[in-house]
Amino acid sequence: MTKVAEKEELGLDKAKLDKIISNYTGKPGSILGILEEAQKINSHKYLTKGVLEYIAQKTDIPVSRIYNIITFYAFFNLTPQGEHSIIVCRGTACHTRGSKNLLDFLINSFGFKEEDFSQDGKSFLTTKDNKFTIKTVACFGQCALAPVVEVDGNIYSRVTTEKLRKIVKGIK
Ligand code: FES
Repeated sequence: MTKVAEKEELGLDKAKLDKIISNYTGKPGSILGILEEAQKINSHKYLTKGVLEYIAQKTDIPVSRIYNIITFYAFFNLTPQGEHSIIVCRGTACHTRGSKNLLDFLINSFGFKEEDFSQDGKSFLTTKDNKFTIKTVACFGQCALAPVVEVDGNIYSRVTTEKLRKIVKGIK
């Protein structure tokens, strides 16, 4: 298989994936680290079917177990994500301090409808130009800082709609 064909099938550079797998060989809990790093090196921050099968084969872990892990952790993505990710916490502490308003603000700002977000249990939305993905999480574990929003991996605390408007403007 050519390098280009491999990249199309896996959605990432196979040599880099091989290096990640070998770095984790023999380490406890290695599968989580492998999956996390494999997702990071995909340009759309998700794990393709091809990558999961490849990792299963290389690590001798059944692919069904790998799917169980991925579906358990909200962090993993099975579909392409936007260049920027905005994650709103919808846990109780954040909800009582206004996280629904923050989510509604994002949904409106990016031209989505509320029903786009909730239908069929869908928990994220990506803009058509693949620039932004809006997601929710059950709890970031930082309830004292509620409401909490994560933007491109950075945690923002006690977020107001105005603060979120500025953050979004900064990455647009
Ligand atoms: S409920 Fe939002 S961080 Fe815990």
